[in-house]
Amino acid sequence: MAYIHWPDEDVELKDPVELEIGFGRGDFLKRVSELNPHVNYVGVDKSWESVKRAYRRLRGRENVRLVWGDVWAFLMFGMRSVRFHRVFSLFPDPWPKRKHEHRRMFNPDFWRLLYLRTKEDAHVSVVSDEMFFIRWAYDNALSTGCWWGYVSETKNRFGTKYEEKWLREGKRVHQAVLFKDGKCDFRIPETVLRIPKLKSVNPESIRRGDYPLPEGAYLSVKEVVVSREGDTVLIKAVVSERYLLHKVWFVLHRRGDVWYLRPSDFSKYFPTKALQSALDLLSDMAEGRTT
Ligand SMILES: C[S@@+](CC[C@H](N)C(=O)[O-])C[C@H]1O[C@@H](n2cnc3c(N)ncnc32)[C@H](O)[C@@H]1O
Repeated sequence: MAYIHWPDEDVELKDPVELEIGFGRGDFLKRVSELNPHVNYVGVDKSWESVKRAYRRLRGRENVRLVWGDVWAFLMFGMRSVRFHRVFSLFPDPWPKRKHEHRRMFNPDFWRLLYLRTKEDAHVSVVSDEMFFIRWAYDNALSTGCWWGYVSETKNRFGTKYEEKWLREGKRVHQAVLFKDGKCDFRIPETVLRIPKLKSVNPESIRRGDYPLPEGAYLSVKEVVVSREGDTVLIKAVVSERYLLHKVWFVLHRRGDVWYLRPSDFSKYFPTKALQSALDLLSDMAEGRTT
């Protein structure tokens, strides 16, 4: 079992490769990786606790790779050379309240992204005790015109913590199974970052607060720290855009007469237009070009 450092690491895996979104304790991965030693499994979960727990449970499984991260970002920027044969999402958070609907995973753009990252004959299984969620995910898939499938009650046993919990409480388990169809168009919002060079910097003009960026994105400046020598400024920030959240420490560093502004290596960010806009806005602030 290996842990994948993405987006830098583009691991090539032998087909077939299957993906589990939100593996929790890793119960399902443990079972299927044993049953199907010829299949390579990739699991993505955004919770560090889940990664730790599953890592222990899956020790010694050569055909399992674990990824810590948001599946949206992973499918956009991680393991670009892999196309998945099957995708499983078992008991994803249904976010039942209307005001939280935007947090649900299987919206039409997510289905388009899945289309891009799966093999021609792929299928996707979404499993939940919440029928409204299964219907919602299924209708969204069909609305894209690039998936077809069915909804049914499932008697399969996936053996996960949440399945056990809901069955114990007497609930029924439903699944939406989707197959690829037609053509889908989804573009990954990638740009190459331009690193701003500045002539002068006034750290006091970089203020904490929320700043709108183009196309509905936001920059939120949380903290500004200046080194004792005054040649480095660290800016803790969050950049949020439609499906992505970048948690970044920006570093302003002086070399000779020039200051460079770049995201630090240990930050979690992706090279998108919104991140570029954040860099440009921060450099304007640092040079005192904003009001
Ligand atoms: C309700 S639990 C289900 C866990 C497991 N599949 C089971 O059946 O027991 C949902 C899991 O999905 C993960 N998750 C939620 N949103 C995610 C996202 N956007 N990307 C990756 N993982 C996510 C959570 O961290 C959690 O481990």
